[in-house]
Order: sequence, then structure tokens, then C-alpha cells
Amino acid sequence: NWTMVNIVEEQVELIRERVGDKHVICGLSGGVDSAVAAALVQRAVGDKLTCVFVDHGLLRKGEPEQVERDYVAATGVSLKVVNAQERFLTALAGVTDPEEKRKIIGREFIRVFEQAAAEVVAEAGAHGEEVEFLVQGTLYPDVVESGGGTGTANIKSHHNVGGLPEDLQFKLIEPLRKLFKDEVRAVGEQLGLPSEIVWRQPFPGPGLGIRIIGEVTADRLEILREADAIAREELSRAGLDREIWQCPVVLLADVRSVGVQGDGRTYGHPIVLRPVSSEDAMTADWSRLPYDLLARISNRITNEVREINRVTLDVTSKPPGTIEWE
Ligand code: XMP
Repeated sequence: NWTMVNIVEEQVELIRERVGDKHVICGLSGGVDSAVAAALVQRAVGDKLTCVFVDHGLLRKGEPEQVERDYVAATGVSLKVVNAQERFLTALAGVTDPEEKRKIIGREFIRVFEQAAAEVVAEAGAHGEEVEFLVQGTLYPDVVESGGGTGTANIKSHHNVGGLPEDLQFKLIEPLRKLFKDEVRAVGEQLGLPSEIVWRQPFPGPGLGIRIIGEVTADRLEILREADAIAREELSRAGLDREIWQCPVVLLADVRSVGVQGDGRTYGHPIVLRPVSSEDAMTADWSRLPYDLLARISNRITNEVREINRVTLDVTSKPPGTIEWE
């Protein structure tokens, strides 16, 4: 694809010129925007880029590996991984209010990222390099939404990489500022990124933390991860990945329901499938998935995830329901 080749070459040239002999830092979330932005910068400046991946333990099954193994293999990017699962679980202990969960996850994320960024600055300094730039996966719709100005570090709180420390001032590199989502995906393919990342559906920054209704615990995360992986696998197998906007799977962790599985009575948890069709997530409709697909997902989840004995389907449009449950 010529257009994409041109975009890549043009950006690589611009980034190289701008960065000079400075060092660059980029936060990876597992999502397509940061992955493509970082890959472009890596193409341009190689080892002068350090990526930081904060694993908050709220990602879906296989997603940390996609970043740590597959993305690194595909790009050769130098990656600093911060395992912060314990820290997030501790901070979330006992918390059930959705807004409070979001606040805690956002706050911890910024703290962990800040500390990692400070370490990158120190390490680069030890090699006589100055970290001057931060990469952001800002897309054209984000630019329009936020009024268009560019500048130094001031990032929407909705995003995965939050605000930056006062004493660490970076200039922003935003190589996707003129692109729409489909173009970003095309650039990602052009750069040879893993298709699981390039075609990943939208996933909220607070991750599975806001898909467990009730307290977030390690056990509950494990249950939800298994159920979600089955739903995603069956949706892909049915070829519906690119047709539906996204399909949150939600664990009603504080609700129990009676069932019968194997030889006996069970007292497990219901799970909700929330497949939606949408253009921009502002409004959405529930997706009319084929019954046999729903049946397959339901059978597999109740067979393979011991703690789940009931699968339900959310048939609410947005509005009045939001896409996520919290
Ligand atoms: P709602 O639930 O508001 O979601 O209908 C609209 C879209 O936004 C995603 N979402 C988020 N994305 N950080 C994000 O990066 C967040 O805190 C967040 N909350 C919701 C949601 O998955 C849907 O695509």
C-alpha cells in the first residue's frame, strides 16, 4: 500500500530530524495506538527509544505476552516492563465503587509510570543521553476533540498514560496526529506488528478492573480472564471480530446463582456478554449475534470455568446503557 509506505517514510524522516541525538520514552498500553506510534519512532531512532509497559494485572488473557514477547520480537524495541500487579490489587482491595476504582487505577498508573520514566531518564543519563521526548499515540479524532493544540505533556485523563510529573518535562512526539483509526491499523500492518495488536478492539484503560462488579481480587480476575478468552476465541472463530465494535465480558462477582453442573448443585456466578455495534462508542446498539454462536460461548464458559454457572446477554442499547458496566 503506497499511501502507508509514504506515511511511514515521511514520519520516520521527521522523527529522526526532530530527535537528533536525544532519547525518547513511550508508554505502551497493549492497545493499537501506542503500539503503532512506538513502532514508528523505533523505526526512526532505534535504541534511542525506550518503551515502558506497566502491567497492572488488569489486562486480558495473553495481552501482557503480546506486548512483552510478540511486539518486541516484531519491532526490536527496547522495553522496560514494570510488574505492578500486586500494587494495583492492594490499592483496589475492598473497593466496589466504580468511580473510586477508576480513580485508584488512574492514580496508581501515573505513579508507577512516573517512577519508571524517572528510571529511564537516569539510565539514559548514565550513558550521556538526555531524555527529551515522550511519544503519544494521539489520533486525529483526539486532536479535534481536545481543541487542536499541541504542546508539552498534558494528557487526557481518559487515556492510559496519564498526566506526567511536574519535574519531568518532555516534548511530545505524536506521529499519528493526522490519522484515523483505520489508517493507524494500516500503518501497523505496514510495520509488521502482530495482528492481535493491530486489530485489537477498544479496551478501557482501567481494564478488567471495571468489568468485575464488586471488589477486584486475583481470583476474580482469573475467572473473568478465562471466560473473556473463550468469548473472544469464539467470536474470532465465527469471523465476527471486525464486525462488532467490542464485546465486554462482565463478571457479576457479588451475585450468586444456583445451578446444576456435573453431579451436583452449584452456587456460582453469572457472567454477562455485552456485544455492541457502534461507529464511535458515543452511541451503540447490542449486536444480534447468531444464536448458535451464543450457545457455543455459553456452553464452553459454563463447562470450562468452574465458578461460572450462568451466561447472560445484555440487550441494552447506548443510551440508556453505557458500553461498559462501570
Ligand atoms: P462507555 O462505557 O462510556 O464506553 O459507553 C465508551 C468506550 O470507551 C471505552 N472506555 C474507556 N477507554 N479509558 C479508556 O481508554 C477508560 O477509562 C474507558 N472507559 C470506557 C469503552 O470500552 C468503550 O469503547
